[in-house]
Amino acid sequence: MMQQAIKVTDSIYWIGGNDRETDLFEGLWELPRGVAYNAYFINDEKCAIIDTIKADKLSAYMERLVSIMPEGRAIDYLVVNHMEPDHSGSISILRKLYPEMKIVGNKKTIEMIGAFYGITDGMIEVKEGDVLDLGHHKLAFAMIPMVHWPESMVAYETTEKVLFSTDAFGGFCALEGGIFDDELDMTLYEDETLRYFANIVGRYSGPAQKAIAKVRALDLKIICPAHGPILRSNPQHIVDLYDKWSSHKTDKGIVIVYGSMYGNTKFMTDTIARAACEAGVKDVIVHDASRSNLSYIVRDIWKYRGLVLGSCTYNTELYPPMATLCRALKNKMMKNRVLGICGSYSWSKGALAELQVFAEQGGDWKLVEPTIEVKSSPTEADLELCRELGRNMAEAVKAAEAK
Ligand code: FEO
Repeated sequence: MMQQAIKVTDSIYWIGGNDRETDLFEGLWELPRGVAYNAYFINDEKCAIIDTIKADKLSAYMERLVSIMPEGRAIDYLVVNHMEPDHSGSISILRKLYPEMKIVGNKKTIEMIGAFYGITDGMIEVKEGDVLDLGHHKLAFAMIPMVHWPESMVAYETTEKVLFSTDAFGGFCALEGGIFDDELDMTLYEDETLRYFANIVGRYSGPAQKAIAKVRALDLKIICPAHGPILRSNPQHIVDLYDKWSSHKTDKGIVIVYGSMYGNTKFMTDTIARAACEAGVKDVIVHDASRSNLSYIVRDIWKYRGLVLGSCTYNTELYPPMATLCRALKNKMMKNRVLGICGSYSWSKGALAELQVFAEQGGDWKLVEPTIEVKSSPTEADLELCRELGRNMAEAVKAAEAK
């Protein structure tokens, strides 16, 4: 027996696969619940595939593809919406199996196919607004550069109003039986979509806003992303979430991240957390920078308006996990957020000074006073400053909500 394609509409099928073996997406981001690589087959006068799959997951993809391929038919077109190898990794083998198959992509896609796979012939180059006629179905192409790579594009099937959206609107987490939003509890999937957005796409929020403007102009029945559930019950909902995240609209809450060797910095940030809670903020989320995977920290920071960073000094510098976080946050170019900072040292200062540089140069952060620097362990006076910072952070995030 072979794995079977799953019907999306009468002539569009899901032929993707689940990956529960890869521990780290892009070698960085934890996958405790796996990830799905979605691909699709359109059965028409001309047969088309939308995207391939990560090379080591080809088996399930091929089983699903041949389960639905009409007898004696060939693949006419392979549409390559995005070249990151989680989707393009099987182009070479598909081309070998179906040598007459035309590969459809934009100018940048075609350059990348040459660079990644050495394939330079049998291409069809498409531009914004071009339409590929399959017979009953027509694929209209729109470019969404930097969501997630410069060649990223989407294909909108105009007859059934289905958008093949590549990385946009997709998330981590394998598909566990259900592949449609109405078959799943979407709470986990929306968290995983935010984690994917914050870590993979978020830096390109400006391009994401341009992509959303294009998507909003479409009459949408189904969104078929390259990761995560197919969205057919209310596809506008994910577009609204993407719009919120990429326009840096945040929820009332505070993320507190600490880097601590012996507990003194943790004592400070716990005190800040308690004061913020007493001042009326229910969503206070505390991460240990040494233990929480960066992807979860970045996801929560993306979601909430307030951030507090507390770091010990390590060999005269910022504690290494905190330095990694600050570097990642600077790369994300977050906007419209409030920041509190505190640091500690014993025999040489260093951490707080680097956090102050981050506050000035690491993004659009509004610094909330007081900044606190503790020698060795916090005194009662130091802890009172921590409580003051917690209260001020609470006021800052509540004030932002009231606007
Ligand atoms: Fe799912 Fe940017 O690849």
